[in-house]
Amino acid sequence: MTYREQIRPDRLPQHIAVIMDGNGRWARQRGLHRYEGHQEGVKAVRKLTENATELGIKYLTIYAFSTENWFRPKAEVDALMDLLADTVVKQTPDLLKNNVRLHTIGDLDSLPEKAREKMQQSIKETSVSTGLNLIVALSYSSKQEITRAVQNIARELKDGKISEQDITADTISQHLYTSEFPDPDLLIRTSGELRISNFLLWQLAYTELYFTPCLWPDFDMEELCRAIVDYQNRERRFGKTSEQIKQ
Ligand code: IPE
Ligand code: IPE
Ligand code: MG
Repeated sequence: MTYREQIRPDRLPQHIAVIMDGNGRWARQRGLHRYEGHQEGVKAVRKLTENATELGIKYLTIYAFSTENWFRPKAEVDALMDLLADTVVKQTPDLLKNNVRLHTIGDLDSLPEKAREKMQQSIKETSVSTGLNLIVALSYSSKQEITRAVQNIARELKDGKISEQDITADTISQHLYTSEFPDPDLLIRTSGELRISNFLLWQLAYTELYFTPCLWPDFDMEELCRAIVDYQNRERRFGKTSEQIKQ
């Protein structure tokens, strides 16, 4: 039986987050340039979006570029930014056709103008979509996101808009880039690395974590379904006992 056939449609994760890692190693294994790995990685993103839509997932957050990735060689960073701009232009008609709504999280202002404008254009165009919410993390750092939230809350406090007692965990959630989205149910990281790499530290508090050695360009529908089946076989207890959950 395939993993696809094992999925229980009534217990789907509402929100899946993905750390798409391993493009460079995928290319090296084939004697190709890292850039060709990123090109293949884009194809895997396109497939993932279609597959998530087909399965009926509501939110999909993908880690495309971290603030730390700015410190890669300039040629790679430039190539990634061009790839981003080209991809979003090419993919917007398909996003619309598949009823996918595009969002971004991260410090968009630090992107080159072309990439930023193309992203903003696609966000605007796809705002009519009511299906999958595709959230792309770009120039994203979770520590930066939390720092920014604290700075904004401090300003509101200073301006007398809120009082100290008003600050709750919800206040912090509402000041993150992700304020309009539910927290992820499932986090997938490819390429065998067992770390979070500054991704959604606050939002992952009770997320189920799934790590696979599969390199990102090889991540297909069966790999996605395998992760979902694994998730569906877990018991999410949120601090309670197993008996309480079964009641
Ligand atoms: C993930 O693949 C893509 C980005 C971080 C932009 P990598 O480029 O990190 O691939 P590896 O980890 O070197 O194999
Ligand atoms: C994490 O991958 C960031 C993205 C997938 C965009 P990295 O390849 O940058 O992570 P580290 O450096 O191995 O932790
Ligand atoms: Mg990597």
